[in-house]
Amino acid sequence: LRERLIVGLNGYVDDGAILGYPPPRTIPDLTLRIGAGAHIRVGTILYAGSTIGDGLKTGHHVVIREENTIGRDLSIGHHSTIDYGCVLGDGVKIDSHVYLAQFTRVEDGAFLASGVTVASDPHPLCGKCKRGPTIRRGARVGVNVTLLPHVTIGEGALVGAGSVVTHNIPPFVVAYGNPARPIQAVDDLECPLGMVHRPYVNGQDVKARSDLGRRS
Ligand SMILES: CC(C)(COP(=O)(O)OP(=O)(O)OC[C@H]1O[C@@H](n2cnc3c(N)ncnc32)[C@H](O)[C@@H]1OP(=O)(O)O)[C@@H](O)C(=O)NCCC(=O)NCCS
Repeated sequence: LRERLIVGLNGYVDDGAILGYPPPRTIPDLTLRIGAGAHIRVGTILYAGSTIGDGLKTGHHVVIREENTIGRDLSIGHHSTIDYGCVLGDGVKIDSHVYLAQFTRVEDGAFLASGVTVASDPHPLCGKCKRGPTIRRGARVGVNVTLLPHVTIGEGALVGAGSVVTHNIPPFVVAYGNPARPIQAVDDLECPLGMVHRPYVNGQDVKARSDLGRRS
């Protein structure tokens, strides 16, 4: 087993953050790679054996487990957890108190609001078909949404607050309810400020949201 820590330049790690925490699972490579320009706040625990791109920003008490592959500019709020084996693209924004279960995939520019909870095991403690959801590029998931295992949230879709997602959500639709059903096209949302394509514009999210706005 290799056990190493590789951290890029110009980062800042608060006192009280832990980098390279030993995972309880046996994995072949315990290297923890963190790109340049990170800000890792007090209470954050990054397990050994993950790869995280440049520009990581964590809130307080964030946990990122082993065998995760994470792109550039992840912003993740306090008390959020990414369990093991997930794949996240670039410019993903995760608010506070979010739980991403094992083997979840989140594509570029997706946004998960506070309290989103993701499941990976359809029949708990069985484990044979454990697989998290897939959240496609630029999708937005509202506060306190529950995503059941195996579902796909389509590109640019918007899942309304408090929904329970049991089936796939098509691209570019607004869906909500329990179970969540597609209600209307994102294009048909009415916003008094005219910003429905990018209501959460911030830094790295801008490009992904702009691209969505330009689709034909
Ligand atoms: C789904 C959503 C985008 C719909 O927006 P909207 O079309 O402007 O919503 P409206 O307020 O016009 O509501 C339209 C109808 O849908 C219902 N509705 C809206 N959101 C709902 C939700 N999440 N669950 C169930 N019903 C919902 C409303 O009660 C209303 O029904 P009614 O006509 O019978 O009264 C929005 O309500 C929502 O949930 N946004 C996510 C908020 C969020 O989590 N933000 C995270 C960052 S803080």
